Amino acid sequence: MTQDELKALVGQAAIQYVVPGEIVGVGTGSTVNQFIAALAAIKDCVPGAVSSSVASTERLQALGIRVFDANEVDEIAVYIDGADEIDGRGCMIKGGGAALTREKIVAAQSRRFVCIADASKRVEVLGGFPLPVEVIPMAMRRIQRQFQALGGSATLRLKDGQPLVTDNGQHILDVRGLAIRDALAFESEVNQWPGVVTVGVFAHQRASVCLLGTAQGVETIRYD
Ligand code: 5RP
Repeated sequence: MTQDELKALVGQAAIQYVVPGEIVGVGTGSTVNQFIAALAAIKDCVPGAVSSSVASTERLQALGIRVFDANEVDEIAVYIDGADEIDGRGCMIKGGGAALTREKIVAAQSRRFVCIADASKRVEVLGGFPLPVEVIPMAMRRIQRQFQALGGSATLRLKDGQPLVTDNGQHILDVRGLAIRDALAFESEVNQWPGVVTVGVFAHQRASVCLLGTAQGVETIRYD
């Protein structure tokens, strides 16, 4: 199976975690796009979704799925999202699609995080994928130096030759050369650096379940 076929497989499999009658949290990315397509087929079973990006909001609305503002909803039963990497404890690197801040907000609001990913995303140690960090532009150089002190190399993400601007109006640094063995401690430390909006390590908001697309089919991995 191709990577796209594996993404379609797990996107469809995630439908079984949607709670009828409850709003569903929706992530961002090519795997989630497959989930959104599958969600459209059962859209009358849920009141709607809370979305983690402008891109997902537009896709949901185009398919006739109502999108609620996060502030209109107290708690979300389940959040479905992809990952750039996921380790053996359900900790993830996310933000390849630059939506990490809103993804973390919706994940924090949700009782359960169901990660959908193809098998290439499963790793022993986080950090092979460049770690996305959303930053306030004026703090960029300082934060780059702080990552350098940890052995990482942080570069500004560009789009069409210009600094990428997130849905929140900020920039993204991609950090290479890290091996993140204690994801909880790493996330806590980087989070409190001045100017960091969100670090793309999801350890405090780790996955409860991962639906991993493999050549043999969907493997369900539970972490709680
Ligand atoms: C977006 C994300 C995505 O979940 C992550 O990049 C995986 O994307 P894809 O499903 O396209 O491989 O964190 O910010």
